[in-house]
Amino acid sequence: MAQIIDGKALAQKMQKKLAEKVARLKAEKGIVPGLVVILVGENPASQVYVRNKEHSALAAGFKSQVVRLPESTSQEELLDVIAIYNADTSFHGILVQLPLPDHINEEAVLLAIDPNKDVDGFHPMNMGRLWSGHPVMVPCTPAGIMEMFKDYHIDLEGKHAVVIGRSNIVGKPMAQLLLNKNATVTLTHSRTHHLAEVAKKADILVVAIGRGHFVTKNFVKEGAVVIDVGMNRDENGKLIGDVKYDEVAELASYITPVPGGVGPMTITMLMEQTYESALRSVNR
Ligand code: GUN
Repeated sequence: MAQIIDGKALAQKMQKKLAEKVARLKAEKGIVPGLVVILVGENPASQVYVRNKEHSALAAGFKSQVVRLPESTSQEELLDVIAIYNADTSFHGILVQLPLPDHINEEAVLLAIDPNKDVDGFHPMNMGRLWSGHPVMVPCTPAGIMEMFKDYHIDLEGKHAVVIGRSNIVGKPMAQLLLNKNATVTLTHSRTHHLAEVAKKADILVVAIGRGHFVTKNFVKEGAVVIDVGMNRDENGKLIGDVKYDEVAELASYITPVPGGVGPMTITMLMEQTYESALRSVNR
């Protein structure tokens, strides 16, 4: 039976330490990390995520602001709001919640965020830094997964890591972070032939495909470490992961639950990166 990787407990531990670091930064340098979250429209899931980010930022002792804009906001109006926060030195992190309404070009918006304040790590400059092996701001979900490996002393060196899902938010940056730690990485996706067989070769299996209970025991080698990034609703509205937890837990050596696994770590890394950004601003 697998050992559970308790993301919730690790997140709480890290956020408590962070609040102490923030208090010290304030006392010693007079700097309060500032995070602004910009939400366009009324996507119900996004509203929950944004509220959670605001609460965590306040709990960490940050200056926290949420800008809620109507669905009808034009791209130019959104870019104007971003420009204001790019120029405001009291904010060290700017996050535009995705997805954006269809009439707004996501790429143009992400490009407009000052790369030094891009705490999501979605700006092409930060993506490029990560891919060239010199990461600065890293997408928060894969960054949180790396913290889990570290905290549970899961060695990645020379291991075969299989990532299922190739999104810019999770799969692609995850592959690069694993590579940076000397894992041998296979990046797979919904069109991969014989996906279950490929996944079964993994020592480390990271699943971010966005399909509830997609990964069954047929995808998992005995003793594998299984990380489930999925957040799906089943037919009864219950939150479920991409991994069929009960049967996979019997095979895996370590597994993350949903909820209480990767999710809480994502928000923690957002706070960590905002803090790091505030630290860097001292030296700029
Ligand atoms: N929507 C879903 N996940 C994320 C994320 O990590 N960052 C942002 N900005 N939007 C998201």
